[in-house]
Amino acid sequence: MAAFADYLLQDLIPASAASAFNVSGLISPAMHALSTLALLGACAVQSALGLPSNVQKRDTSSWIQGQTPVSWRKIFCNIGPDGCLVRGRNVAPGVVVASPSQSEPDYFYTWTRDAALVYKGLADALSANYTGQLNYEMQQFVISQAKQQAVGNPSGGLVNDGAGLGEPKFMVDLKEFRGEWGRPQRDGPPLRAIALIRYAKWLISNGYKTAALNNVWPVIKNDLTYTAQYWNQTGFDLWEEVPGSSFFTIVSSHRALIEGAQLAATLGQPTRVYTTVAPHVLCFAHSFWNPQQGYFVSNINGGEYRSGKDANSILATIHNFDATAGCDANTFQPCSDKALSNHKVTVDSFRSAYGINRGVPQNKAVAVGRYTEDVFYNGNPWFLATFAAAEQMYDSLLVWKQQKSITVTSTSLAFFRDHVPSVTVGTHAAGSTLYDQIISAITAYADGFIDVAAKYAPANGDLNEQYNRNTGVPLAAPDLTWSYSAFLTATARRDGVIPASWGSTQGNALPSQCQRLEIAGSYSLPPTPAFPSGLDPNPGAGPAPSTIPTGCTNPEKVFVTFNQRASTAFGQNIRLVGNVPELGGWNTDKSIPLSASGYKSNDPLWTITVPIAAGSNVQYKFIRVQGSQVTWESDPNRSFTVPAATCNIQTRNDNWK
Ligand SMILES: *[C@@H]1O[C@H](CO)[C@@H](O)[C@H](O)[C@H]1NC(C)=O
Ligand SMILES: *[C@@H]1O[C@H](CO)[C@@H](O)[C@H](O)[C@H]1NC(C)=O
Ligand SMILES: *[C@@H]1O[C@H](CO)[C@@H](O)[C@H](O)[C@H]1NC(C)=O
Repeated sequence: MAAFADYLLQDLIPASAASAFNVSGLISPAMHALSTLALLGACAVQSALGLPSNVQKRDTSSWIQGQTPVSWRKIFCNIGPDGCLVRGRNVAPGVVVASPSQSEPDYFYTWTRDAALVYKGLADALSANYTGQLNYEMQQFVISQAKQQAVGNPSGGLVNDGAGLGEPKFMVDLKEFRGEWGRPQRDGPPLRAIALIRYAKWLISNGYKTAALNNVWPVIKNDLTYTAQYWNQTGFDLWEEVPGSSFFTIVSSHRALIEGAQLAATLGQPTRVYTTVAPHVLCFAHSFWNPQQGYFVSNINGGEYRSGKDANSILATIHNFDATAGCDANTFQPCSDKALSNHKVTVDSFRSAYGINRGVPQNKAVAVGRYTEDVFYNGNPWFLATFAAAEQMYDSLLVWKQQKSITVTSTSLAFFRDHVPSVTVGTHAAGSTLYDQIISAITAYADGFIDVAAKYAPANGDLNEQYNRNTGVPLAAPDLTWSYSAFLTATARRDGVIPASWGSTQGNALPSQCQRLEIAGSYSLPPTPAFPSGLDPNPGAGPAPSTIPTGCTNPEKVFVTFNQRASTAFGQNIRLVGNVPELGGWNTDKSIPLSASGYKSNDPLWTITVPIAAGSNVQYKFIRVQGSQVTWESDPNRSFTVPAATCNIQTRNDNWK
């Protein structure tokens, strides 16, 4: 056992990190705690081995206690260059490998989404409990992502139009991946922005605003610009299968724009693009709701051959959690009536789908997968989806206890009835019988998901991607980094750790009508981050987060919407180029892609909104692009003068000529 503990401590600290802090800082109190837990975990392993597999191995808390240090250790084992499962395999520093497995399945790549979600968890953990190692890891992540953003790839490049930011996966040494894949995936940029914003906020609140501005902001800005420009175009969902619009992607995009605007305001950067687009993203997100059946249809604009009951929607609510928003349904909070109804409908869809769920009563947790039509490895429950279902319940419990009441609406009634059959519509205050019954029933229900995972996870704490639908035997990718991260975030909520607010209560008024407002921006190569040494915790040294300025006064740039009607064949795109720098200075490489999100055969609309300096004399043309072939509109050039500073969006309507 001593050997196991030594091995553990050694592997907690990647060799490359060890030089970054001195030896006394190396073994922080938190790490001592972790190693002690590891010992407990190892003991639990021993005593659990003798039990028949159908008997629950340990109670929820003691399983968590053993699984926690293993999960921490295994996350770092998958981070380059020296994590214990990837060292010597050419993994760039700060890069999260999805799984060390190189065959059946080959997951030896880094996905922007997976990495961002893992680091979002690490950044939240850093804010809750500082360790030098976490701080170091966050900096390595920033450095790796600044580099990754610049890598040209099959989705495109960075500086001309940002299209390459939508590339879902890269080689572990950060070279581009050239194989066929479901691309682009538009959740990567907003999720990475969110993870980096969390770290930038930590830096600012500890007095390191300049380090945040110089090193982290340039990377975040590219991702926010991408989100504001491309949110209304289709892409592949988080499972990389459905080309269309994904609820998870849209909800994440909204959060990134709001939280990004808040950070930008704190850093003295412009916010108008983000705050102008965000309400329209939120407006679109609401269109995923199916009011008849009470769930978020996870894929639309292309995913209609499935029911859309998908863990996508549960992940969307937990990654949008903001305890200051209470149970707000406008921002899809985990305890909102819609999110609870969605939880029930989605989880229920798996009750009859998997053999291991057979006979489990309606008020008990079951194994949760991605979606019931799943055929990947014959379609199985996933650890991360099962933990996500638990996390939504823990988030809800935290808010109910914080606000000392639970509101049941006609939308959430069916969810609550499963757990407390006598429940009624209304607000049940702390101290009432119904409040107490709900809290105790949902606490047991939430722990039930952890127990399901515990039942099928091996005693040594290794977490695969999936577990077999009929036998529960773990399968598919071993040591999936996201599985460990999902375990840690769910159990942190169980322990009452509440992540900092993302500003969800600001800038969310829904517009009277949803618009396809996509605003093009400029992208730049992020400078190589150079963090000064000695960024030690200094809580409260920086400014409190700003409120987001809304409205617009005397803008330097006027938003101009270009609507171009042009019938196009599959594979053809319409772009815009003109004399001013905002339109690429007649350089077709720097032309602006228009969006076909509103294209119909009887109304072939291509559109984009571009901020252009007030008063500019603009000349422009549209071009039709197919591969490397460019067709220009006929002469003369189109022209207009941008009005002096105005907050009203200007519209140009043109037809291909
Ligand atoms: C932070 O670390 C300390 C020391 O290891 C531990 O006792 C405490 O529970 C941790 N708190 C959180 C919020 O993780
Ligand atoms: C774009 O936004 C509009 C308005 O919300 C919506 O109707 C449309 O489905 C969206 N399309 C895509 C691809 O996001
Ligand atoms: C359109 O603008 C370009 C770039 O300034 C110029 O070369 C071209 O002659 C213009 N076309 C006409 C017809 O004026």
